[in-house]
Amino acid sequence: MPTKREKDAVTGRETTGHEWDGIRELDTPLPKWWLYVFYACIAFAVVYSVLYPSIPLISTHTRGILGYTNRDALTRSTAEAATQQAKFRDRVRDASLEDIRKDPDLLAFAETGGRSAFNENCAPCHRTGGAGAKGYPNLADDDWLWGGTLAAIHQTIAHGIRNADPDSRQSQMPRFGADGLLTPPQISDVADYVMSLSHQPAPADAARRGSKIFAENCAPCHGEHGTGNQELGAKNLTDGIWLYGGDKATLVETLTYARNSSMPSWSARLDPTTIKMLAIYVHSLGGGQ
Ligand code: HEC
Ligand code: HEC
Repeated sequence: MPTKREKDAVTGRETTGHEWDGIRELDTPLPKWWLYVFYACIAFAVVYSVLYPSIPLISTHTRGILGYTNRDALTRSTAEAATQQAKFRDRVRDASLEDIRKDPDLLAFAETGGRSAFNENCAPCHRTGGAGAKGYPNLADDDWLWGGTLAAIHQTIAHGIRNADPDSRQSQMPRFGADGLLTPPQISDVADYVMSLSHQPAPADAARRGSKIFAENCAPCHGEHGTGNQELGAKNLTDGIWLYGGDKATLVETLTYARNSSMPSWSARLDPTTIKMLAIYVHSLGGGQ
């Protein structure tokens, strides 16, 4: 191949001297800016690989003179966060529930800690955000079985409901059908009455008969007007919010077998500070009183 550098007439630049089928290549130098950036990159890479871990060796890599590792950095920032957290946790531990509510920083910390403890321990039953499911009460509304004050919520969480903890919430709705306390027609009548209490259509004569049965058998727990009693965890039957269901078939099932569901006592599983944060979180979900 002939190599003959010559000046190109159009651009005034030299050619490389190579020629392919009459096509010649100009020998244009790289732009200055590009070259400087390129040199700067090389310089950066050299400095970086001296300072930081970079070059792979057979079973390890160069360490760099700064001794920096991502793992150390993570450990350090985790430890920092833990000290920061411990400070707040100690303040939550020592403050009363009411005082936590009044301190915006503590409140925010407790709500965040409460939310993550809730997602881990409570959401399987109460669902994310406390939305509830059949048999598992919604904790975000203002309808409470056992009370919606901070103190009541704290007590419910710490000791649970119908379990072996001596301080747990206790009460048993009788199994009116299964134990023969009421006959099936009586259960049907009182179910109709409960439907009328919650403003659902029900045959008037059955509901009238049911109201007498209610006064004798149910009012001691659910109240004369069916509005419930939080001392006994006896639901308000008039508000149209149901734990199990307000249709006739579900009511008959509830009255026949009762439900008496239970919740674990959390004081055996979680530390007192976490339980406090949970109470604050649940109280903040929307229905706190
Ligand atoms: C195994 C399922 C289960 C788990 C897990 C559970 N709960 Fe419950 N919880 C229930 C049931 C069932 C009830 C209703 C019991 C009843 O009928 O009185 C309840 C009731 C409550 C109540 C009372 C609601 C009211 O209306 O008075 C609160 C507050 C509560 N749970 C908070 C929590 C918190 C906080 C956690 C997590 C630490 C938790 N629960 C975990 C099943 C569960
Ligand atoms: C000893 C107290 C007690 C008596 C008496 C009682 N209940 Fe209850 N009732 C409760 C409790 C406590 C609950 C909540 C049970 C649970 O969480 O599993 C409840 C739940 C219910 C529910 C479920 C509501 C829902 O949201 O699904 C209905 C309906 C009901 N009762 C109706 C009656 C009727 C009608 C009678 C009378 C025939 C009656 N109860 C008698 C304590 C009582």
